[in-house]
Amino acid sequence: EKRVTTHVLQEMKNRGEKISMLTGYDYSMARIIDTAGIDVILVGDSASNVMAGHETTLPITLDQMIYHASSVVRAVQRALVVVDMPFGSYQGNSKEALSNAIRIMKESGGHAVKLEGGKEIKESIERILTAGIPVMGHLGLTPQSIYKFGTYVVRAKEDDEAKRLIEDAKMLEETGCFAIVLEKIPADLAARVAKEVTIPIIGIGAGGGVDGQVLVVHDMLGINNEFNPRFLRKYANLHEEMLGAFQRYIEDVKAVDFPNENESY
Ligand code: KIV
Ligand code: NA
Repeated sequence: EKRVTTHVLQEMKNRGEKISMLTGYDYSMARIIDTAGIDVILVGDSASNVMAGHETTLPITLDQMIYHASSVVRAVQRALVVVDMPFGSYQGNSKEALSNAIRIMKESGGHAVKLEGGKEIKESIERILTAGIPVMGHLGLTPQSIYKFGTYVVRAKEDDEAKRLIEDAKMLEETGCFAIVLEKIPADLAARVAKEVTIPIIGIGAGGGVDGQVLVVHDMLGINNEFNPRFLRKYANLHEEMLGAFQRYIEDVKAVDFPNENESY
């Protein structure tokens, strides 16, 4: 089957077909997600939370993101693979941003990068684009700025922040981003952005009026039973499934039920 490109995503928006996106961090999971027919796999810096157990996305390094991304790329035959640029790798110095984006593309084989923020990072986005690297934007609740926000509550509920978000979305489109993630903002505002810009808008906690949806794969599989925000729909309860499997294995080992004769050489 044909590979998904940034151009395919634009065609999907143009004809009104919704874009499906999930995060992925390792070979085995990415293999299943790609086989299912997902359009985009995001190697999210949420790996810092769900893979490494950090409280925020800030500690994950460029080398660690490249390790996750290269594992995902080896698994994928169809999906577009987008890689998050980690905190500290693109803010401030646009030349460093470009060399870090080049490292991601060269060393992981990913197809695009994602950066959080609006006009503060315009120069970095422009410079990365000059190298022919596709850039996805990310506005609204941008977790790398959690210490500025102070909380993970819904963003842009006030008019001034909503106005700035619309301006930033238009700037990202004009600069040449191929898509934008909008995280945890009112559905009306997200729908308005999706209407006013021509590039695809992918939402998480941003309602149904956008061009596609993204979820963190561990969350939608219900692996962590302590994370239950309103926007999250759980498509499995793997926490219970996995806990039960581990408990039955332990019991079988203790009872000398495993391995049996058929499972021995
Ligand atoms: O890192 C991540 O998982 C993300 C998505 C939630 C958009 O950036
Ligand atoms: Na992210």
